[in-house]
Amino acid sequence: MRIRDKLFDLVPLRSGTCSLKWDKYAEKDILPLWVADMDFRSPQCVVGLATELCDNGNFGYGVCPPGLYDIVQSRTMDLYNWSIEKSWLSWLPGMVCGLNVACRVFENEASQVITNTPVYPPFLSAPGNFNILSTRIPMVLEKGRFTIDFNKLNNLPTKKGDLFMLCHPHNPVGTNFSRDELLRLGEYIVKRELFICSDEIHCDLILDNELSHIPFASLSEEIANRTITLMAPSKTFNLPGFGCSFAVISNPDLRRRFKIAMRGIVPDPPAMGFRLAEEAYRNGDEWRDRLLVYLRSNRDFAFGEISKMDGLAPYSPQATYLLWIDAREMNVDCPHVFFENAGVGLSDGSDFDAPGFLRLNLGCTRELLERALVRMHKAVSNL
Ligand SMILES: Cc1ncc(COP(=O)(O)O)c(C=O)c1O
Repeated sequence: MRIRDKLFDLVPLRSGTCSLKWDKYAEKDILPLWVADMDFRSPQCVVGLATELCDNGNFGYGVCPPGLYDIVQSRTMDLYNWSIEKSWLSWLPGMVCGLNVACRVFENEASQVITNTPVYPPFLSAPGNFNILSTRIPMVLEKGRFTIDFNKLNNLPTKKGDLFMLCHPHNPVGTNFSRDELLRLGEYIVKRELFICSDEIHCDLILDNELSHIPFASLSEEIANRTITLMAPSKTFNLPGFGCSFAVISNPDLRRRFKIAMRGIVPDPPAMGFRLAEEAYRNGDEWRDRLLVYLRSNRDFAFGEISKMDGLAPYSPQATYLLWIDAREMNVDCPHVFFENAGVGLSDGSDFDAPGFLRLNLGCTRELLERALVRMHKAVSNL
């Protein structure tokens, strides 16, 4: 069903605003549906606070407001039934930074960093930044949904102290892992004495009403002891430009090692990032509820339209605003170049270790999405 909501039908003009997403195609008639950044205005409460802070005109160093600790703690309990201590939090200026810090913690200990592919590119590059081998285990498709290949994992030789990097929910395939899948992975981690970094940046973007997010570390104390959880309000409330993320680590020794790996290199988030994160978490959930309705409608519409296009097979995401598409049957060398030539800028699957695939960003107005899909349809029909 087509959802009309002026919160998301009307968006600010982004061309010429130093937007990574829009400037890539400046001066070109290519609709940008690539990087994971939404075109919508953030919730009005966040915009209002940002305006107030700008009017104040002082942009000095910041410190985390006590209220942000409070809201993170109460939110993890209210939304995921996960009880955390404030002392478990470490603030980060970005999640990619957190993924790299996690690898740094294990640079002298891990023989490999294991991850499921396809996956968000920094999962593939971060281990190499610390001379650690990146081991990639392709996901398997079960009933139209990508999941962890436990057969392959069980056959993989591992050493005590290796790191697993989990994208949960999963970018780009949109899987919301079930409790059974997570428990099975948790048992594997504990049995083999591995550690895990669980990137949960998309956790508040569960599109299917009957599903909910289960933090990996909430499964058991034993599992939590081996887990670094990364979270942020940035994807949910469209705040990535304000750099405020955090790690949750209950194991004191692991937390100490994480903080040592950050030392002297990782700055605190800016004051504005802290304040806006708190505001979004405290007062942004009504906006988020409406966002999810809009995204769900965009997802179902795009899935339906792309399913009709020859050579393209879309996978409906359970979470995130990203739609993964198999374009291998199109038999073109570079599907993303093909669609750029047709006026639609998608992410190239090769960057996610999956050549021949594409990722489409649903975080845009329905009107823009419709225009992009018409262009894609035309291009495919003319092939
Ligand atoms: C799974 C995942 N982790 C991390 C990031 C980036 O986070 P940040 O911008 O805070 O570095 C993204 C952005 O798309 C993502 O999808």
